[in-house]
Amino acid sequence: MSFEIHKKRREKLLEILEKCEAVAIIASAFEVKRNHDVDYPFRQDSSFHYLTGFDEPDSILVLNPFEQKRETLFLRERDPKMELWTGRRLGVDKACEKLSMDQSFKIELFEEKLSTLTSGASKWSYDLASDFTLSSKHKLCDFIQSKINTSRNRSMKLGSVAVSGSLEIKELLSGMRAFKDDSELASLQQAQVVTNMAHRAAMAYSAPGVGEHQLLALMESVYHFHQDCGTAYNSIVAGGENALILHYVDNNCQLSEGDLLLIDSGAESSYYAADITRTFPVNGVFTPAQKRIYEIVLEAQKKSCEHIRPGLLRADFHTVACEVLVQGLIDLKILKGSVSENMDTGEFKKYYPHGTGHLLGLDVHDIVHGLHFEKGMVTTNEPGLYLPADDENVPAEFRGIGIRIEDNYILTDDGHENLSVSIPKEIEEVENACRDDFRKFLPYITDPR
Ligand code: GLY
Ligand code: MN
Ligand code: MN
Repeated sequence: MSFEIHKKRREKLLEILEKCEAVAIIASAFEVKRNHDVDYPFRQDSSFHYLTGFDEPDSILVLNPFEQKRETLFLRERDPKMELWTGRRLGVDKACEKLSMDQSFKIELFEEKLSTLTSGASKWSYDLASDFTLSSKHKLCDFIQSKINTSRNRSMKLGSVAVSGSLEIKELLSGMRAFKDDSELASLQQAQVVTNMAHRAAMAYSAPGVGEHQLLALMESVYHFHQDCGTAYNSIVAGGENALILHYVDNNCQLSEGDLLLIDSGAESSYYAADITRTFPVNGVFTPAQKRIYEIVLEAQKKSCEHIRPGLLRADFHTVACEVLVQGLIDLKILKGSVSENMDTGEFKKYYPHGTGHLLGLDVHDIVHGLHFEKGMVTTNEPGLYLPADDENVPAEFRGIGIRIEDNYILTDDGHENLSVSIPKEIEEVENACRDDFRKFLPYITDPR
């Protein structure tokens, strides 16, 4: 793996820091205990990964544009006894050469070195997990905060944002992380390739009596089968009315004849996420009532897509999606009055309670940057309708239906490109995909010998 790209990002951040007269302190993620000597799976902090490419816990990056040695990494020392149990460590001696840092120290020296490393700067900018323990004495966050409270500049302005004592590192980094370079785009595209296979496998495997957990296993096995790939977030595999629970992650019911199945699941490839939702009939054929709702949601997505263009406010594509959904609900006699009256009252939020999209990248809900769409950003577009089973305003044939359709788009010069265009979405495409042979999408059934 080349760490050149991470070095370039640090250099860019150092330029920004110089203009702001600030130093940056960015901590890695830390291991979280599940029980006894078992941890939850470790995943590096996204900003730390972005700037270092270094995947170990208990590390801190300090960037100071005013020192000769501008890039300092604190990390764990080699420890053969621990490495026997928990794996290899890079170690302090190799860090500079491998990661192109100016200097490296063992993590235990962080407190002692901090004041020298931050000299020359009037502001501090930091991104720290609040539970990162620096030593038995301090949590890192409390320690940094106490230093800032005693530092010289208590308040200043960053653009229009007033901050006190420190700069938000996310403000500084968002202008970099929001815009995807070629290597990031390659990872995002690979996540889409793998996610396409998983969703197609699920459509083809789905049938009455199949367990939500079986589809989960099928999809996640596709993710994990691929190099440097895993799940980007907890998958939602929601049959029937489970689709009305927005973050349904129990995934433990059996699919029923005549129901829809909503799957919100995406791969993470080399740290970059796909975030895809498809809703399809368990038995492979939409009923007329399901088709009606599906068509409204699909139209909301298509119309709001026209507003995914550089220069437009991100809030506007949400408004457009809401207007189409509201019109659909009025046509179905679920809502009364005009579109604009309903937009004013917000009554429709009972049936569409979430936003229409978010930026996507290293995090599934990625760092936010500005209010407008700009070239190089990646966004989701994910309208939905959720019609409660016990809502008497909803005609009986539509009750209990939950549908969301979610795709991922990269902003181009004058519009967008749909990164998830290969994943079936039109009604006929979806029904065909449900009739497909699931084995086509499961690479591990090919004998490797
Ligand atoms: N998968 C979470 C979301 O769609 O925002
Ligand atoms: Mn999403
Ligand atoms: Mn999603």
